[in-house]
Amino acid sequence: MKAAPVLSRYFPLLNFIILMISSHQAVAVDQSNFKKCHQSAFCERQRNYKPERSPYVADLSTLSVTDDKEISLGITNKDNSKNFVMQLFFLQDNTIRLKVNEANPLKPRFEVPDTIVKELHSARLSVQDQKENNTATVVADSRKVLINADPFRVDIFSEDEPVFSINSRHMFHIEHLRERPTKPEAKTEEKKESGGIGAAITGLFRWTEDGKKEAIDEEGNVIEGGVVEDAEEKEESDEEREKREAEEENEDDNAHENHPDNQEGMWEESFKSHRDSKPRGPESIGADVSFVNFANVYGIPQHADHFSLGSTIGTEPYRLYNLDVFEYELDSKMSLYGSIPFMIGHNAKKTVGMLWLNAAETWIDVDSSKDSRGVLGTMFGYFASQDVPEVNVHWMSESGVIDMFFFLGPTPQDVMYQYTTLTGMPYMPPHWSIAYHQSRWNYNDEEDVKTVDSGFDQHDIPYDCLWLDIEHTDGKRYFTWDRKKFPNPEEMQKNVASKGRKMVTIIDPHIKVDNGYHIYSQAKEKDFFVKNSGRSEFQGWCWPGNSAYLDFTRADVREWWATQFKPEAYGGSTEHLFTWNDMNEPSVFNGPEISMHKDNIHAGDWEHRHLHNMYGFYFQRATAEGLLARSEGKERPFVLTRSFFAGSQKYGAMWTGDNIAEWGHLRYSIPMLLSIGLGGISHCGADIGGFLRNPDEELLTRWYQAAAYQPFMRAHAHIDTARREPWLFEDSMPNIRNSVRRRYELLPYWYTLFYQSHHEGLPAMRPLWFEFPGATETFGAEDSFMVGNALLVRPVVNAGVNSVSVYLPGDQGWYDVDTSVKLPSPQTISVSTPITKIPVYQRAGTIIPRKMRVRRSSTLMLNDPMTLFVALDDKGTAEGEVYIDDGHSTDFETDQQFIYRKLKFEKNTLSSSVITPGKYDTESWLERVVVMGARKPSKVEIETAGQTSQIGFKYDPNKQLLTIRKPGVNMGKDWRIVIS
Ligand code: NOJ
Repeated sequence: MKAAPVLSRYFPLLNFIILMISSHQAVAVDQSNFKKCHQSAFCERQRNYKPERSPYVADLSTLSVTDDKEISLGITNKDNSKNFVMQLFFLQDNTIRLKVNEANPLKPRFEVPDTIVKELHSARLSVQDQKENNTATVVADSRKVLINADPFRVDIFSEDEPVFSINSRHMFHIEHLRERPTKPEAKTEEKKESGGIGAAITGLFRWTEDGKKEAIDEEGNVIEGGVVEDAEEKEESDEEREKREAEEENEDDNAHENHPDNQEGMWEESFKSHRDSKPRGPESIGADVSFVNFANVYGIPQHADHFSLGSTIGTEPYRLYNLDVFEYELDSKMSLYGSIPFMIGHNAKKTVGMLWLNAAETWIDVDSSKDSRGVLGTMFGYFASQDVPEVNVHWMSESGVIDMFFFLGPTPQDVMYQYTTLTGMPYMPPHWSIAYHQSRWNYNDEEDVKTVDSGFDQHDIPYDCLWLDIEHTDGKRYFTWDRKKFPNPEEMQKNVASKGRKMVTIIDPHIKVDNGYHIYSQAKEKDFFVKNSGRSEFQGWCWPGNSAYLDFTRADVREWWATQFKPEAYGGSTEHLFTWNDMNEPSVFNGPEISMHKDNIHAGDWEHRHLHNMYGFYFQRATAEGLLARSEGKERPFVLTRSFFAGSQKYGAMWTGDNIAEWGHLRYSIPMLLSIGLGGISHCGADIGGFLRNPDEELLTRWYQAAAYQPFMRAHAHIDTARREPWLFEDSMPNIRNSVRRRYELLPYWYTLFYQSHHEGLPAMRPLWFEFPGATETFGAEDSFMVGNALLVRPVVNAGVNSVSVYLPGDQGWYDVDTSVKLPSPQTISVSTPITKIPVYQRAGTIIPRKMRVRRSSTLMLNDPMTLFVALDDKGTAEGEVYIDDGHSTDFETDQQFIYRKLKFEKNTLSSSVITPGKYDTESWLERVVVMGARKPSKVEIETAGQTSQIGFKYDPNKQLLTIRKPGVNMGKDWRIVIS
C-alpha cells in the first residue's frame, strides 16, 4: 500500500478515489480515523490532572465589585505562581456567568464570538459575609455564590440549595501560554566558546598552593569550577571524551524533554499522517462541575448515545469536535457532525443547565457512579440525607478561556428560555418546511423530478419539498446546474411550485479550485479562503476534488456569500428554491480526522483549532442571511445544516446525517433528537428509512410512522441505494401514506409549537419529564417522547413487534388518538401494534388544532378549516393554543401579521381569546369540535360577535365522545361554544 501516497501525489484523482473508498464506502465506522482521548495530547493531560488538593487559590483581598454588577477576583496556581482573573456576573433570567482567564497572557486567548445574542443585563449583587480571607458569599435575589479561597472552589446556590460546585474535585486547570523552551546548544560548542572545563583539557591551568590544578583562561584568570584534580590521571582518550560528551548531551536532551513546558504533544502532535504544528503550544483548559442533588444529566449533542448521559469512567469521554463520521456507531461517545456544549440536570424538583462556551475540541467526562456520591451532600450539610446524588462532570477543551453559564431554572421550560435568551431563539420555520420532504442522492434530471412530483399526486400522498443533491451541479460547483440534466431549472421549480411546493438544492462550503468557476475566482481575488499554516490558500479534497474553504468567520466573507443567493447571481434559481448546507464540519477527505488542519489560519490570526466547532454555524448563518437578503428581508429563509454549534437554532433546521437503514438507527433517532432539542435546535430530524443501505418494508413503514411525529420530516437515501419513493412498496404504501397524512392533519399544532419554540425556546419534541418533571419513571425514557405538551408518542422501533408497553405519566389520564378511549394514569399499558398502529395519546386537559382535509401540499391547506380536539381532564377542563400567519413572510415579526389565541374549555364552555394581539386575517374557520370525556349535552350554542345560535352535535355515550358540527366561526375571532 506504500505506493499509494506516491502515486496519488501524481494522480490526485487516485488519491480522491482511495479516500472515497476508505472514508465513504466502508461498511462500518473506521474508528482509526478518529481520535481517542489519549491520542489528543491535551485530553490526556487534562484527564490525568488529578492533584490531591487543587493548587489554585483565590486571593480574596483582591475581590472587587464593579457597579454592583460584576465581581472580579485574583486566582493563583501555587504550583507555578501563574495568576488568573475570575469574573462573576449575575445575569438576567436566573443565569450566572463565571469566567476565568490568565491575568497577563502572553497572547490573547480565544473567546467565543457571535454566540451570545443578548446584551447581558446584570442583576445587582452584594458581597455578604466575607469570612476573613477564606470564603466570600455573593448574593443577588434568590441566587447565591460561595467562593472558597484555598483551595479555590465556587458553589452556586439557588433558593438556598446548592446546585453546582466548581472545582470541588480539584480538576480546575488552565495551561498558561508560554514560550517554547529552547534546546541548549551542543555542549562541546559551548565549551569552546566559554572556555570552562575545556580550558583544563587544552592544558591551561596552574598549580594551587595545596598542590591542586586550577583551570585558567587565556588571561590567567581562574575559571570557576575549573579545578582539575590530576590532569595527568584525568586526561581522556578521544573515545572517552566522545562518550562523556554524548552522555552530557543526552542529559541535556532529557532535561529539555522532561521540562514541564515541553511535554510530548505540547508543541506539535501527529495523528496518522498529519502533523499539527501547534505554534502557540499548550493552552488547554479544564474544570470539574458537580451537579449537586442530580442523578441525571442530558444534552451535549451530538452523540449517537442514550438520552440520559452515561458514566464515562473507564471508557472514553464524550467528545465534541465536529466531524464527518461515516456509518456512525450507536451507543457511542464519539463526536458527530455538531457540538452544543450545553448540559441539563434534572431531578423531581428542579431543572438546571450549564453552557461551557468553547468552540475548540472538547471532551467531557461524566461520573454519576455511587462512589462519587455524597461528598458534596455531606460537605454542605444542606440535605437531610447523606446519600445525595450528584453527577460530576469534567470539561476539557484544547484552548480558550473558562467561560461557563449556569441556568438556574427551576423548571425545564425556564432553563430552555434562559439558554435560548442567551444564544438566540430558534428560527421560525416557513410553514412548508415543517411538512414532508422528499429527497435522495440524487433526483437525476428534470424528467425524474417531474415523475416523482406527479407520483405523489397519483398516489394521493402529500409532500411539500423536493431536494436535489450534489449531482445536480456542474461538476460539484455549487450555485451552478448540470445543464444537460437540468436545462430549465426555473421552469422545473415553477412547475413544482404550482402545487404549492418548494425545492431545495445543496450548497456545500468546499469550493472547487478552478479559476473558471466564478465563486472560486471571486473569492480568490478577494483573499477570502482559509489559509494553511504556511499562510497560503488551504486546499483539501472534497466532492469536487481539490477545493478551497471560505473563511466564514469573517463578516465580509459572509456578506459576499449572502449576495450569491440573489437571483441574478444564482442563475437558474427562483424564490421557490431553498438551501441545504452539508459537509460543513468542515469535511476534508484528506485532512486529519477527515476535517481541516487545526493549524490552518482564520481571520484575526486565530487558528482553526480555536473555532473548529463554529465553522458550520457560521456557514449556515451566511446562507440564511443570503436567503433573507434575496427577498430584501421579506421571506423567511430555510436552511438545513449538518454541522452546528450553540446558537445554530437561529439559522434553520438540522438533521442527524448519515444514519443507516437499521432498526437501531431508528431507535436512536429518539434520544438523538431529544438531545438536539434540548440544545435549542427545535427543528431537527433524521433521514427517513436510513441514509445508507436499503430498509425492508417494515422498517421503512415504522420509520415513516415515527418521523411523522418528529420535528423535521424528510426521506433521504444514499446514491447507491435502491429507489424508495413510497409507491414502490405496494403493500406498505397505504401505511406510509397514512403516516404522512397524519403529519399534515397535525400541522396547525406543529406550527403553533414552532412559534412557541421561536418565542420561548421550547423544543417541539420533548422528553416526558419536560412535561411531568416529578415522574421519576420517565427520567431514563427514550422510547417515547412528547410532541409539545399534549401528545405522547411511542413509535414502534423494533422488528416484528406485536405489542409495546407505554408508560403514561401524570394523574389525569390520556386519550388514544385512534379510538378516543380514555386511559387512566399513571400506569404502564401494553398496546397491540399491528403495522397500522402508531401509539399516540392526547393528554387529558389539552386542546389540539388539526386540519382534516389533507391536500397535495401544506401551502394549499393554508385557509382550510380546522377541527379542535378537546381532551377533558377530571375537572372537565382543557386548554391549548393556536398560532396562524401567512406561513412564509417575515410580516409576523415586522408587522404583527399573526393570530395567536388561547383555546380554553371550562364550565362546559369552549372559548377562543387573544394571547398576543396581531393583525393577520385568516379565512380558516372552525369546522368541527371533538370533545373527549364529555357528558351528553341537551343543546350546543355558539356565540360570536354578539350573536348566539344553536349548532348540531353527535354524542357517543360509550366513548363519552361529543362531536360538534360546523361551528363555522373564524379561527381569528373571539367566540364561545356553550354546551348545556
Ligand atoms: C453527505 C450527507 O450527509 C448526505 O445526506 C448527502 O446525500 C451526501 N453528503 C451527498 O451530498
